[in-house]
Amino acid sequence: MKEGGSRASRRPEVLVNCAVSLDGKLAYAGGARARLSGPNDLRRVQELRAKCDAILVGAGTVRLDDPSLRVHWELLGTAPRRDPAHSRVLDGSRPTLIAVPRGSHRVYPTGVEQWRSTRDRVELAPLLDHLAGRGVSRILVEGGATVLASFFRQMLVDELTVYVAPLLIGGSTAPSLLGGEECPDAERAIPLARTGVEPLDDGVLLRFRPRPASGVAAHPL
Ligand SMILES: NC(=O)c1ccc[n+]([C@@H]2O[C@H](COP(=O)([O-])OP(=O)(O)OC[C@H]3O[C@@H](n4cnc5c(N)ncnc54)[C@H](OP(=O)(O)O)[C@@H]3O)[C@@H](O)[C@H]2O)c1
Repeated sequence: MKEGGSRASRRPEVLVNCAVSLDGKLAYAGGARARLSGPNDLRRVQELRAKCDAILVGAGTVRLDDPSLRVHWELLGTAPRRDPAHSRVLDGSRPTLIAVPRGSHRVYPTGVEQWRSTRDRVELAPLLDHLAGRGVSRILVEGGATVLASFFRQMLVDELTVYVAPLLIGGSTAPSLLGGEECPDAERAIPLARTGVEPLDDGVLLRFRPRPASGVAAHPL
């Protein structure tokens, strides 16, 4: 994230990137991290991170994966849940902003900034406005499933890239790309327009843009 700056502007461009198994799972049952990307996809993600001003993940991903969110990050093994207070994003080695709901009393290490929502759930649109004012013009959202659902359902996504790995995970508890609320019918499904397909490693890289469709309304979570 860029430091300082008071540029008030439109919301940042929101890029979503993730890797899924062929059956659309982001991780193994219970959320255990799955190593889905091959070497070329990992390199592509580094390049994507490098061209963004900020990287956003949900608290669930911090708890389960403990990502460093550095441009040159290394994948960790699938460790069990850990204390988020000791997660790598809070080690103070790079600018970190934690978005917290109204009423949160969590204390974070020195140097970790907080942005407080006026609601009981972190509101994404005001958060993006805040980031725009901080000079963030492009943000990479890496997951997990619940955060991706919030971004998509609130129509805050500009581009989605998905690496589809040659792997089937199966079951009903492994998180899939879009978490959040159940989708009982086509009215609540999110239409996408494909903008690219390319073989990558042993899988496929897919690119989409959200497709505005009449009858599909924004549903804030
Ligand atoms: N394959 C991939 O590319 C990839 C990438 C990233 C993550 N993952 C996987 O995704 C899984 C984690 O996903 P997850 O769904 O459990 O958690 P998540 O989406 O990472 O985080 C969800 C949490 O974020 C917090 N949050 C605050 N404001 C929110 C908002 N407006 N909308 C949504 N969430 C908000 C809430 O935490 P509180 O309840 O604490 O307030 C919520 O429970 C892990 O298994 C991880 O391995 C996979």
